Amino acid sequence: MSTSPSPVPSVTLNNGVEIPQLGFGVFQVDPADTKRATLDALEVGYRHIDTAEMYRNEAQVGQAVRQSSIDRSDIFVTSKLNNPFHQPDQVRSAFEGTLIALDIGYVDLFLIHWPLPTSDVDYLDTWRAMESLLEGGRVRAVGVSNFQVGHLQRLLDGASVVPAVNQIELHPYLTQNQLRDFDSAHHIATEAWSPIARGKVLDDPVITALAADVGRTPAQVVLRWQIQRGEIIFPKSNTRSRIEENFALFDFALSDEQVAAVTALNRDERIGPNPDTFS
Ligand SMILES: NC(=O)c1ccc[n+]([C@@H]2O[C@H](COP(=O)([O-])OP(=O)(O)OC[C@H]3O[C@@H](n4cnc5c(N)ncnc54)[C@H](OP(=O)(O)O)[C@@H]3O)[C@@H](O)[C@H]2O)c1
Repeated sequence: MSTSPSPVPSVTLNNGVEIPQLGFGVFQVDPADTKRATLDALEVGYRHIDTAEMYRNEAQVGQAVRQSSIDRSDIFVTSKLNNPFHQPDQVRSAFEGTLIALDIGYVDLFLIHWPLPTSDVDYLDTWRAMESLLEGGRVRAVGVSNFQVGHLQRLLDGASVVPAVNQIELHPYLTQNQLRDFDSAHHIATEAWSPIARGKVLDDPVITALAADVGRTPAQVVLRWQIQRGEIIFPKSNTRSRIEENFALFDFALSDEQVAAVTALNRDERIGPNPDTFS
């Protein structure tokens, strides 16, 4: 596999760990396809994979990482604590399950997948158990996903480790400006899930016109917009040509006006569940 220098910038997390700003997501990649898709992504040049226990494909991601000829230390792997395992005494065993499934020695980043604020387990207690995973040396950073400002504030008030990242739904129809400003004010990196809204933003006339102007595809315009805003992204594709297309973001740039035009498309419109009510 290619060992040429990566064009992908790194983001330094609040504990000094570096994460590639562009990665590859494997939600809704069938386990039967995941090893091939992940190997394709690694061959194209991606060095950051985003999986989760919930996706049922951690093992196949791990197989691809092991089968590639790339040093483990050159690949950043994220996984997530699944919703049934929020009880503090279940967090470590769930994490051990992820370690066993991946079988790549350690996890770079482990996240609480959803805050589940209406469940009978307090996510602050879940977070304290996540913090204790750092002592074992098998995870380099811990963070959260789908946390709103109020959820984050409770962690900041009641816990000792500031989450390294907050992974949230973010795309041109849901720009999340307030939440990403809160993340950034507290040294929490924002990761954008569903960065192209699973394709729903790609026919937008503003985006197709920008794509024509810069001579790129609508997906590349949207992903480049996120790169320039500083978000960490990991578009998913099961299609080799799109895996290549989504990686080719570093030989063009949008002007400030073009970035602003995409940001102005915000409708506060989710494609996924609302974290305040999802249980
Ligand atoms: N933390 C969370 O709660 C959470 C929730 C959702 C997602 N995520 C993470 O975020 C990652 C990305 O989000 P996502 O998978 O929901 O959505 P996404 O990356 O916005 O979109 C994926 C969809 O877009 C298509 N696509 C990809 N590249 C394209 C291109 N260049 N042109 C046209 N269509 C394209 C894919 O089709 P094909 O596959 O058929 O090519 C797939 O249907 C996930 O894989 C996962 O790692 C996290």
